[in-house]
Amino acid sequence: MALHRLTQIVMGVPNVEQTAAYYAEFGLTPGENGTFATVDGGEQLRVVASDRRRLVQLGVGADDPDDLDRVAASLDSLGVPAERTAGSVRAVDPGTEITVQVEIARRYQQEPTPAPGYNSPGVTARAGQRAPGILRDQPVRPRKLGHVVLGSTDQQFSQMFFQQGLGFKISDTVPGLAAFMRCSTDHHNVLVQQAPVAFLHHTSWQVDDVDEVGRGASAMLAADPGRHVWGLGRHHVGSNFFWYLRDPAGNFSEYYSDLDCIIDDALWTPGVWEGARGLYNWGPPPPPSFVRPDDLAALMTGAHAPR
Ligand SMILES: [Fe+2]
Repeated sequence: MALHRLTQIVMGVPNVEQTAAYYAEFGLTPGENGTFATVDGGEQLRVVASDRRRLVQLGVGADDPDDLDRVAASLDSLGVPAERTAGSVRAVDPGTEITVQVEIARRYQQEPTPAPGYNSPGVTARAGQRAPGILRDQPVRPRKLGHVVLGSTDQQFSQMFFQQGLGFKISDTVPGLAAFMRCSTDHHNVLVQQAPVAFLHHTSWQVDDVDEVGRGASAMLAADPGRHVWGLGRHHVGSNFFWYLRDPAGNFSEYYSDLDCIIDDALWTPGVWEGARGLYNWGPPPPPSFVRPDDLAALMTGAHAPR
């Protein structure tokens, strides 16, 4: 059959305790040994010790052993050593320095969550009712891990690793930055950009709707305004609402909702997006540190210290 989703990421940070506390506050549910669960994806994050912040491992779910055989053969044809076990294939992408584990996993069965009725000119979808978004008082709980964005010292090879090696598809391209790649019906699950050092740019977590994006970020900023990176806005590529925050190790974490979905490959035409459109459609302008995180030089020299 096919690849169908991201499963779990392992994030390495120098300050495990602080970073773990941040992701609990972000809305993930803490489990055993530094693991965190989403509502629909179960255990999807593990925070481990590392001398510098980085993505250690990325899990990709596949339907059956045929997929693993195909991935192992494709990696072999790229000259990438791969370790095949009964239920997985593991290989390291030298550009991003991450281990990717393609593994047999169950597909998502997300409880359908209809968008709230929005009143609009000539349409009263919510007569005599206050907006559901203002009535919510529960903490925001991400539904699933959506995507990761990585810096690679060899973007071209990393791209080939994911596309030809693993079987990711291209949804859209921003020349000079990266291609948005998917292993599911989501517009993107992985994006790799050229960087002077391999690093984790951000992880992104799905929430129900734009109110949850706003509520989640507002709660995080009420506790510590210094976490703000960029938002609220709407991306052009992928269409999703976004708000980016910074964890105590320096990784960005994004709440997102309303991402484009590609169910039938034949009905999607990949686009090439230049300039600002590559980054966003509306919202405040991105801070320079979004494009080039402040700690890159420190990561390069290995002298990275958490803030
Ligand atoms: Fe993102």
